Amino acid sequence: MKTTVSVIKADIGSVSGHCVAHPELMDICDEVLNEALETGILKDYYVSRCGDDIDLIMTHDKGEENEEVHKTAYSAFMKATERARELKLYGAGQDLLSDTFSGNIKGMGPGVAEMEFEERPSDPVLVFCCDKTEPGAFNMPIFRMFADPFNTAGLVIDPSLHDGFKFEVFDVIEHRKVILNCPEEMYDLLALIGSTGRYVIKRVWKKNGEIASAISTERLNLMAGEYVGKDDPVAIVRAQSGFPANGECVDPFAFPHMVSGWMRGSHNGPMMPVSEAEANPIRFDGPPRVVGLGFQVANGELIGPVDLFDDPAFDPTREQAAKIATYIRRHGPFEPHRLPAEEMEYTSLPGVMTKLEERFEDME
Ligand code: 13P
Ligand code: 13P
Ligand code: MG
Ligand code: MG
Ligand code: MG
Repeated sequence: MKTTVSVIKADIGSVSGHCVAHPELMDICDEVLNEALETGILKDYYVSRCGDDIDLIMTHDKGEENEEVHKTAYSAFMKATERARELKLYGAGQDLLSDTFSGNIKGMGPGVAEMEFEERPSDPVLVFCCDKTEPGAFNMPIFRMFADPFNTAGLVIDPSLHDGFKFEVFDVIEHRKVILNCPEEMYDLLALIGSTGRYVIKRVWKKNGEIASAISTERLNLMAGEYVGKDDPVAIVRAQSGFPANGECVDPFAFPHMVSGWMRGSHNGPMMPVSEAEANPIRFDGPPRVVGLGFQVANGELIGPVDLFDDPAFDPTREQAAKIATYIRRHGPFEPHRLPAEEMEYTSLPGVMTKLEERFEDME
């Protein structure tokens, strides 16, 4: 029997401002998922949080895009939103674009990453949850896990990884997709995914078609048609035995790469890997964070998690990220701290530009 891992996340209100999801909201999500466990919709679940985003990590045997599972997640978020409104939390119901569930959570605001697989004799599954950034933030670390031999020793020395992986890339602006093989088409892949705001890795498979990774690619602002917050993505990664080792999956995050998001979803800044307890983006509403949770999936049950970045070996990364934050903050409203003009289209800036438009006059 196959097991499905579904990670569905949303920001439904936080304290103070966009910092942290209120614990009561997580308790309500826990209650709703527990009911789904009792009625057999879910096999297991774990409720986590990164900043103001609540991450529902769920296992079941119903496959991807299952209506009951998606409805469970949406109901949890809607019920918790009621409490968020009572507490007048900031951005109560922020990522829920509709009051009624309509069959599939896609396009309704929350981010979704799902994968179905036949469990191996031992199946380590890692979940990464971000805040104050966008889906393209995973492009570099996912590329490095599955295609960079300087990150993943197994690509070179382990025959079960030596053939490489297939990458599915979404063009989130033109709504098209392409599959590229690595290492054969590595330069083509990099030509696309270096543009993190447009080309986003959605899935990675082994060459034999076995699923290796799935990433949420929903772009909230494109769905809502206005700025309502950043898309704060999640990713699922399978590790060991034919996939990169656990340590090869976390090592890309030892480099605090630049991602877009941060304050008002309008700034570039360093990605800081943190423990669940330190997933509190406070300085200038950031810098952007990523939490890593390591599970063993056993007959649909989630064993764990290990809090993957709760390791002093990541302290220098966090220090470096804090230093980069200080450096780039000195640019204030200037690029490259502020996002380039085409990305600012999806923020609150067009409102200011409209007002300025009538002041412009043609030059000869
Ligand atoms: P252990 O000897 O600790 O099991 O380590 C095995 C390994 O391959 C680590 O990458
Ligand atoms: P979130 O997407 O995390 O709500 O961030 C919104 C924002 O504008 C932070 O400054
Ligand atoms: Mg928010
Ligand atoms: Mg958020
Ligand atoms: Mg957001």
